[in-house]
Amino acid sequence: MKKIDFTASATIYDEVSQLSSEDQNLMNKAVEARQKAYAPYSKFNVGAALLLENGEIILGNNQENAAYPSGMCAERVAIWKAGSEYPGVKVKKIAITAASTTSKVDKPVGPCGACRQTLSEYEINQKEPMEVLFMGEVGKIVKTESLLSLLPFSFDSSYL
Ligand code: THU
Repeated sequence: MKKIDFTASATIYDEVSQLSSEDQNLMNKAVEARQKAYAPYSKFNVGAALLLENGEIILGNNQENAAYPSGMCAERVAIWKAGSEYPGVKVKKIAITAASTTSKVDKPVGPCGACRQTLSEYEINQKEPMEVLFMGEVGKIVKTESLLSLLPFSFDSSYL
């Protein structure tokens, strides 16, 4: 028997103004995307902004549906937009933010498991890490240097 330890590191910022100007700009775009979310059921608005290696910024937000499971998260809306409009163009980073209309979201909101899995496919294919930044509406911002650091033992094409 062998026990292994996972190591993942994240940098925690107290406020957006502490981020690099590139990261601040991306997070501000995620906020803009968040404000256009369609989340009448959960009232939990999420925005995502991707920075591509060609400088393009791709936005996405959650799109809910009266048939609840038919809705989609902001991160997957954004990554699929990027994958369909700019196939093969690397994603340098993704910024994510969430706010609720019923309470103040004051802690960083990380991407859900399904979004981590979806994003991991793109990070693996591009062979370069995708930075992930996330926050609530207010409060601290978490930044990780790669997506896969958020997803140990992930499933990928090597199993197929
Ligand atoms: N949501 C996202 O957009 N991204 C996540 O990573 C977590 C959850 C959305 C889905 C749903 O519209 C709402 O937040 C509440 O779960």
